[in-house]
Amino acid sequence: MSTQPIGVFDSGLGGLSVVRQLRRELPNENIVYFGDTARVPYGSKSKRTVVTFAVECARFVLQHDPKLIVAACNTASALAMEELHAALPVPVVGVVEPGAAAAARLADGGSVAVLGTEATIASRAYPTAIHALNPQAAVDAAACPLLVPLVEEGRDSADPIVQLAVRTYLEPLRGPKLRAVVLGCTHYPLLREAIAEFLGAGVAIVDSGRETALVVHERLAADGLLSPSREQGSIRCYVSDNPARFRRVSSRFLDEDVNEVELVEPERYISALQP
Ligand code: DGL
Repeated sequence: MSTQPIGVFDSGLGGLSVVRQLRRELPNENIVYFGDTARVPYGSKSKRTVVTFAVECARFVLQHDPKLIVAACNTASALAMEELHAALPVPVVGVVEPGAAAAARLADGGSVAVLGTEATIASRAYPTAIHALNPQAAVDAAACPLLVPLVEEGRDSADPIVQLAVRTYLEPLRGPKLRAVVLGCTHYPLLREAIAEFLGAGVAIVDSGRETALVVHERLAADGLLSPSREQGSIRCYVSDNPARFRRVSSRFLDEDVNEVELVEPERYISALQP
């Protein structure tokens, strides 16, 4: 089983920021990625829809016989973990719990702030998970919906529009008690510098994708499932729409080119079975 790939899915291409962390942490693992680019964004959708889509994505990834599946999408992790665990016969790791665990550790008698999509913030999944580990931590949260399209447009931390958006969303969260901010969306690590600069050096930045890669490493090691290979692992990507755009934008999320991107027809990922 150790030679089987790690399956990863996301609402689109943002999950490649999690793949980037997996590659850093576990360079010899093969990765099969599904980006639901036909139905992105998930962040403005209802729980019912996100659960249905997330389970369909995971079932598609399952066809590639993964040893473990990573729900790289924060929105799917926030809204659908229970249903994903119930629907899948392999371990599933979401990004919310690892990010929340790091925030709970870093709160240190002060407060933490969570940034995410509208659906992630409305679900309160991060505050719930942080409080389960650290009931004393004060948790603030802000939905930052504009940041996703800004990143996909190619705007970075140096861009004045990005800096204005960051200031607008984060100003209410800033304060002397703030110890850490959670980047609770796949796209926000790409704006890490603008966020860190606005909040100042005293505020730790938690990248949920990075924390998730560490958890995946621990989990595979504990289960004796780390790849025995010494070669660089492969990345195979599948998308539900527009592979050319995926290929083009992916380089912003990953340090390497993604060459293998295959379009998946709806009948291969939309199931008749509803969760
Ligand atoms: N991948 C999503 C997340 O991390 C962001 C994009 C979307 O709204 O689908 O929440």
